[in-house]
Amino acid sequence: MDTRSLRRCLGRFATGVTVVTYRMATEARGATVNAFTSVSLDPPLVLVSLARSTRACSALDGREFAVNVLRADQRDVALRFAGRHDSSLRIDWDPAGPGEVPTLADAIAVIRCLPWRRYDGGDHVLQLGEVVTVETRDGDPLIFGDGSFTTPGSPLLDGSLAARTRRPAIPAWAEAAYRVHSYAEAS
Ligand SMILES: Cc1cc2nc3c(=O)[nH]c(=O)nc-3n(C[C@H](O)[C@H](O)[C@H](O)COP(=O)(O)O)c2cc1C
Repeated sequence: MDTRSLRRCLGRFATGVTVVTYRMATEARGATVNAFTSVSLDPPLVLVSLARSTRACSALDGREFAVNVLRADQRDVALRFAGRHDSSLRIDWDPAGPGEVPTLADAIAVIRCLPWRRYDGGDHVLQLGEVVTVETRDGDPLIFGDGSFTTPGSPLLDGSLAARTRRPAIPAWAEAAYRVHSYAEAS
């Protein structure tokens, strides 16, 4: 199997982007991870796949962690925790009590986990976490696909409306206009 072809093919599967955060003594640390998935509701379990070469992989063995889902404007945060950006970038951490897992203030979702099980995943380790608390905040997610960061487009309204789980159906142009305005206001 040619690794480049494999990477390119798997990259067609677009994902959100998370930063897995944890505490090492007094230091708040994080690693950018897009190999994140939900696993089970009962018990509540999630999974992150960590390259064995990362510091996070060994650090999370038996250690509490949090999965922070990044907002659409947090590309620099993703690069910073992937070790590919100016490490002096200011990170807004949520205030955490002593010994608590540090989390990111601007993440659109924060999932705090206790370590559950670890499984062999070749050159990665599949780290499962048992979810202890969740926080959901406003904002669009950052997307990673085909090796690039993007932001979500307008929802598809020409398919089944049943796909829209929460919001009422509105015309596609209205959604697009709303997004243009909200991005303009944010920048
Ligand atoms: C968009 C993106 C997604 C990534 N996803 C993963 C991933 O799912 N698993 C992983 O082990 N590394 C992933 N990485 C690479 C790690 O973030 C990178 O190796 C980081 O330096 C690990 O930090 P650490 O060694 O301090 O733990 C990703 C990088 C980027 C830019």
